[in-house]
Amino acid sequence: MKKNRARKVLKFAVSQFTYPRDPKDFLQVFHNLTSARYTRGVVSRVVRETSDTSTIFFRAGDGWIPHVAGQWARIGVSLNGKRVWRPFSISAAEGHDPSITVKVNGEVSQNLVHEATPGTVLYLEEPSGQFVLDETPSSILFIVAGSGITPVMSMLRTLMPRRPDHDVVLLYSSRTPEDCIFHDEILELADQFPGLKPIFWFSHEDGRIDFSETGDIPRLCPDYQDREIYSSGPDAFVSQVQELAVLHGGQSRVERFDITRRTSASGNGEVYFSRSDETLEVTGADSILEAAENSGRQLPHGCRIGICRSCLVPMTDGQVSDIRTGDVTQDPGLVQTCITRPAPWVALDI
Ligand code: FES
Repeated sequence: MKKNRARKVLKFAVSQFTYPRDPKDFLQVFHNLTSARYTRGVVSRVVRETSDTSTIFFRAGDGWIPHVAGQWARIGVSLNGKRVWRPFSISAAEGHDPSITVKVNGEVSQNLVHEATPGTVLYLEEPSGQFVLDETPSSILFIVAGSGITPVMSMLRTLMPRRPDHDVVLLYSSRTPEDCIFHDEILELADQFPGLKPIFWFSHEDGRIDFSETGDIPRLCPDYQDREIYSSGPDAFVSQVQELAVLHGGQSRVERFDITRRTSASGNGEVYFSRSDETLEVTGADSILEAAENSGRQLPHGCRIGICRSCLVPMTDGQVSDIRTGDVTQDPGLVQTCITRPAPWVALDI
């Protein structure tokens, strides 16, 4: 009884010092979201979208800069005692708590899809990326494939409520209806906002989209040449969209979710890390970054597909080849480890 009374008196005293906030609010400040070195996020909800894809909603701590629709952020998770980072597109609308929609495609995504639960702590870097809407967008054609829907979903969730009549065609290719992320929500958006016309394409039944001038795009969207084209998905897919746009003197904004590797850019090579005096063997078609990670080393990186230049390190000797083009660079300078491999030997000043 006495203990209870003492507790009440203490609580009252603390509340006088912390008014108008509850003491719990201050405890929260020092809780999960606070870190001297990193911005952290705490998972608030996980929604299963398809058999191998989940959306992970999180509350971001101090230091998080609100995203612009279409951007991505590097997210870090703790795996086997190490912190591992990968970039993920943000699927939430602008002005909302962030969410990422993750398809299993490696150990980090596997961890997020299968292990993340409310309360899981994530490490965050600020959103970045240029795949964003114009301030005053004209009529739009989105052409997306697979997980490429993720940044586009952020754009649709942001744009359509602001401009319900905006003229938007969404051509969305997925393998089957079961693989189609956000299928029902897209239909609901189209019901609610008459300007949005979704076209679902299922490659398992319909085959690949024919991007030729007389192919599927003019048939599905006859005025495509008058629209701003945004494309997001695998490298080979968005490259075809770009080629079609260029044929008509137009442009498209693209977001690539992978890179196409030249088969000739493979074989065995070696990287010499001069600061640690260690040599790493690089086999198959791996990039320097991938080989280093497979051996347990951490190298700086961001997008992993040659866009952000976060992975630049000094090359002091030897040469590297570009895994996308096979082009060889031998002049000392900075190299992007995510898209290069030794050809066949290179020394890096790290
Ligand atoms: S990690 Fe982005 S360019 Fe290499």
